[in-house]
Amino acid sequence: MSSDKQYTVVVAGMGKRGTHHADAFQKNPRFKLVGLCDIDAARLEAAAKKFSVTETSADAAALAKKTRPDIFCFCTLPDLRLPLICAGVQAGVKLIAYEKPTALSMNEALQMMETTRAAGVKTVVSHQHRYGVHYQKVKEIVASGAIGRVHTVYGTATGWMTHMLTHLIDYTRWYSGYPEAEWVVGQAHGKSKFSDNHPSPDYIGGLIQYSNGVRGIVESGEGAPDVPEVDYWWRKCRIGAQGTEGFAEVLTGGGWRAVTRDGVMSGPGCMDYEHDMGPYVQEMADWLDDETKIHPCNGETAYKDFEIGMALCRSVVQRGKVKLPLGPGEPELEALKRVLPD
Ligand SMILES: NC(=O)c1ccc[n+]([C@@H]2O[C@H](COP(=O)([O-])OP(=O)(O)OC[C@H]3O[C@@H](n4cnc5c(N)ncnc54)[C@H](O)[C@@H]3O)[C@@H](O)[C@H]2O)c1
Repeated sequence: MSSDKQYTVVVAGMGKRGTHHADAFQKNPRFKLVGLCDIDAARLEAAAKKFSVTETSADAAALAKKTRPDIFCFCTLPDLRLPLICAGVQAGVKLIAYEKPTALSMNEALQMMETTRAAGVKTVVSHQHRYGVHYQKVKEIVASGAIGRVHTVYGTATGWMTHMLTHLIDYTRWYSGYPEAEWVVGQAHGKSKFSDNHPSPDYIGGLIQYSNGVRGIVESGEGAPDVPEVDYWWRKCRIGAQGTEGFAEVLTGGGWRAVTRDGVMSGPGCMDYEHDMGPYVQEMADWLDDETKIHPCNGETAYKDFEIGMALCRSVVQRGKVKLPLGPGEPELEALKRVLPD
């Protein structure tokens, strides 16, 4: 397929992230926005005007069916995933791009993957922080061997689980070569965030045993370590790798630092939607052009990130080690709500 082919795109959910996506697609000549959707009429009208798109609807499935885009992108809140995956598949799209968290339960994620795999539709999930120069620098240092053999990867965020956990798991798996998770143990506390639009325990932490021997450590939510170097609360994430000869870590809002066999070093960088969305959408075109150029945020990888998070939840509920892969089970958020003390 020639590399000047233009891919048509529908975006549903024109809030903060839908607008970021529409903007990035519009700025890249490889894409053409052919439809926008939101159930909020005023928001939809404003977006239609901003992006000069005439085809709009409050019904994402109907819009996708009518416009038959190559890419169906949805950026709705976490309570809406499986129905929009089905809408994209039924419209015959080539690729569905959507926002994290992948789903709100393992059962939902399993159905989503079953649906897209059966239809041969590519999926991409927005773990786009990886495009930050500071995230990339840590990857470069770890991959160069400068910290020796990686034995531990870690990620913490003060933001709560359905906002942040898969970000942490995705980037730490990237730093350690995308190993499979063999088992996890987890613990959680607090019920006040179950009523949030990103329902979660207030805190969840856990250990992950990876197939390459690497130990993962993650913490998300109230009580996760502060990152005093970073002012903006949502960017208080510290994600890194420790090896036999040093460590390298990224602070989402505060650059990177490392101690390696070559010495002590650090550099700048801050999460920036504008910067990160460009390559994130470009790599969708690259993947559609060429089957071998699999998007780094592909849905199969994101599914495994999510599965690890759900295994941690199951560990809280069942107490002890939970082995992966997971099958269907009691919806994890409901189960957590049932077992966590008030
Ligand atoms: N990757 C990141 O860095 C990042 C950052 C922030 C948020 N997010 C994720 O993005 C998602 C959206 O977050 P947001 O902050 O943009 O939310 P938002 O509330 O700003 O936007 C959501 C939009 O979806 C619309 N909507 C609701 N139901 C709909 C339906 N049936 N059809 C069409 N539109 C519908 C709402 O009216 C709203 O405009 C969340 O899952 C969130 O976790 C990701």
